[in-house]
Amino acid sequence: MSSGVNRVWQLAARPTGFPSPEDFRLVEEAVPAPGPGQVVVRNEVMSVDPAMRGRMNDVPSYVAPFQLDRPLDGGAVGTVVASESPDVPVGASVLHGLGWREYAVLDAGHTRVVDTTIAPASAYLGVLGMPGLTAYAGLLDVAHMRPDENVFVSGAAGAVGSLAGQIARLRGARTVIGSAGSPEKVRYLVDDLGFDGAFNYKEGPIRTQLKQLTPDGIDVYFDNVGGEQLEAALFRMNLHGRVAVCGAISQYNSPEPYGIRNLSLLISKRVSLLGFLVMDHWDRRQAFVEEMSGWLREGKVKVSETFVDGIGHAVDAFLGMLRGENVGKMIVRLADPGEPV
Ligand SMILES: NC(=O)c1ccc[n+]([C@@H]2O[C@H](COP(=O)([O-])OP(=O)(O)OC[C@H]3O[C@@H](n4cnc5c(N)ncnc54)[C@H](OP(=O)(O)O)[C@@H]3O)[C@@H](O)[C@H]2O)c1
Repeated sequence: MSSGVNRVWQLAARPTGFPSPEDFRLVEEAVPAPGPGQVVVRNEVMSVDPAMRGRMNDVPSYVAPFQLDRPLDGGAVGTVVASESPDVPVGASVLHGLGWREYAVLDAGHTRVVDTTIAPASAYLGVLGMPGLTAYAGLLDVAHMRPDENVFVSGAAGAVGSLAGQIARLRGARTVIGSAGSPEKVRYLVDDLGFDGAFNYKEGPIRTQLKQLTPDGIDVYFDNVGGEQLEAALFRMNLHGRVAVCGAISQYNSPEPYGIRNLSLLISKRVSLLGFLVMDHWDRRQAFVEEMSGWLREGKVKVSETFVDGIGHAVDAFLGMLRGENVGKMIVRLADPGEPV
């Protein structure tokens, strides 16, 4: 089946602050054999996600923390190269949760067969996968965005943000404003993705820049970053505005949490601030995939992906994503589907 070597990333130390390459270790193992009901998947693409940073801390959360000296895991798509399951044959492309390794062995029931002839494998980790559903559900089911509303999306050039902004535009937002961390990303949001305005949060005061771009205030804030941008957005929220609290990446590596000082505005403006997790919205997956597939077919959604090649560079991709080196979804490419095993 293969040369027999499986390279796997482990967590070597729990990071304090921004992670460093020394916190990770690449080990070689034998390629596993499938047990009854199991498959072996040769991973072709794997995801690196901000939430993985949280799982590196030894604290209780909605998913178990990564274990020291044990493999990391996360979303991946690959081809089944050995199967002991009649349901998932050799040659099937599957989405599953055992990334950070070249080969994964798992129960066939823990995989989902995907069609890589209608969309590339990476799409199932991005636009048609978890980040896409996060954007869709957060905007429509959590923030209840309505046509003609003014929307602000932070982290707007990333996987979730770039889709949240485009979905807002397609669902009839009056204006869509975004923030991102470089002038190139700001240009990309306006020129390529059709945002009405965007600003670089690293350049100039956030509150002033946001105020200039939102003369009619904000009805819906899709918050990917928390911290200072959340505080700035609360100042601009309109009466009965809604904030979908999706993520707080500005805080994930920060030793000191940013204290939001203007929460009392929620009262006077009757603003709701609602945190959500995509895993509570799987029931919307079919509606989301249908609508998003239509937009993709019609060329109405632009898909952005940043690729890093090779299992040996998976940590570089993860750290790069935390530093903002990605536009759209950060994907690690491990193998070509056509490559001999
Ligand atoms: N609630 C859920 O179920 C759910 C599901 C998926 C993701 N999320 C959250 O959604 C957010 C986006 O996730 P994603 O997968 O789409 O990641 P992403 O936006 O593709 O990548 C992370 C981005 O964060 C930005 N960033 C890094 N440090 C920052 C800081 N200090 N302040 C502001 N921005 C910073 C960087 O872009 P810049 O160059 O713009 O700084 C980077 O590209 C994250 O907070 C994640 O935890 C939540």
